Amino acid sequence: MMPWHAVVARLLAVGIMLSVGGAGMAQGPPGGAPPPGVRHDNTSGFEWIRRLERPERLPALKVDEVIAALGLKPGMAIADIGCGTGAFTIPFAGAVAPGGTAFAVDIWPELLDYVNGKAERGGHTTLKTVLAQRDDPALPRGSLDIAFFHDVFHNVHDRPGYLKRLAASLKPDGRIAIVEQEFDDPIAKRWDKAEDRITREQVRTWMAAAGFELVRELDLFQGANNPKGAGMPERWFVIYQRAGARSTSP
Ligand SMILES: C[S@@+](CC[C@H](N)C(=O)[O-])C[C@H]1O[C@@H](n2cnc3c(N)ncnc32)[C@H](O)[C@@H]1O
Repeated sequence: MMPWHAVVARLLAVGIMLSVGGAGMAQGPPGGAPPPGVRHDNTSGFEWIRRLERPERLPALKVDEVIAALGLKPGMAIADIGCGTGAFTIPFAGAVAPGGTAFAVDIWPELLDYVNGKAERGGHTTLKTVLAQRDDPALPRGSLDIAFFHDVFHNVHDRPGYLKRLAASLKPDGRIAIVEQEFDDPIAKRWDKAEDRITREQVRTWMAAAGFELVRELDLFQGANNPKGAGMPERWFVIYQRAGARSTSP
C-alpha cells in the first residue's frame, strides 16, 4: 500500500499533467471505448476527488438514511460500485462490522488508494477495494447482499449486459440499489448529455431482462427532500431483487 503522502503527490502530479496538457493528455480510464453515441467521461481520479469532496455535497448524500433504507447490518456484504472518495463506503464498512464486507469498487486506482487511506485511518477492517473495468464490476461470484450505485450507473456503457454480469456476484436474495439523477433535472442536464442520462423506466426494462423486479422506491432525494444549496440534482432511488426472491429478503 502506498503511504498517504505518496498518494497525494501522485494525485497532484496527475492534476498538474492534466491542467498543463489539457484534455488531449488525459489518459482514458480502463475499460475500452463507449458504444456509439455515448460520451466517455474521462475525468481523472484527481478531478473526481475535488468534485466529490466539496463540503456542501456530503450532507446531501443522507448516508445514514441510505443505510437504514438498505437495511444494512453487521455481517452483510455490500458493494459500493463507483465508490469515488468513499463517502458511502466508509460508513457502509462501519455498518457491516463486525463480520461483513464493504467492497469499494471503482475504475480509477487513485481513488481506491485514497479510500484505502481513509479506511486505514478510520480502522475499518471490513473495507476491501476492487479495481473494476468499465463494464465489469470484478466482484466475487455469489458474494453480495447488496450492490449499490449512487450517481454511477449512467456511466456504464452496456447497461443490460452489466446487470447480467453483476447478477452473478449477488447471493440468491441479493438486491441492487440504484440512485440516479432525474433525467430532466437542470443540474443533471448541465453535467451530462442526454445519452449519458438514464430514466427509471429504462432501468426497469434492463432489470427485467436480467431477471430482476422492483421491490422498493424511495423519495429521499426528491422534491423538498433533496437538500437545497448542495448543487445536487434531484435523484430517484430504486431497489431491485431477483423475481421471486422477495419472500427470502430481510
Ligand atoms: C459521480 S462519481 C460518484 C461517486 C460516489 N458514488 C458518490 O456519490 O460519492 C462517479 C464515480 O463512478 C466511477 N465510475 C465511472 N464509471 C464506472 C464504472 N463503469 N464502474 C465503476 N466505477 C465507475 C468514477 O470513477 C467515479 O468515482
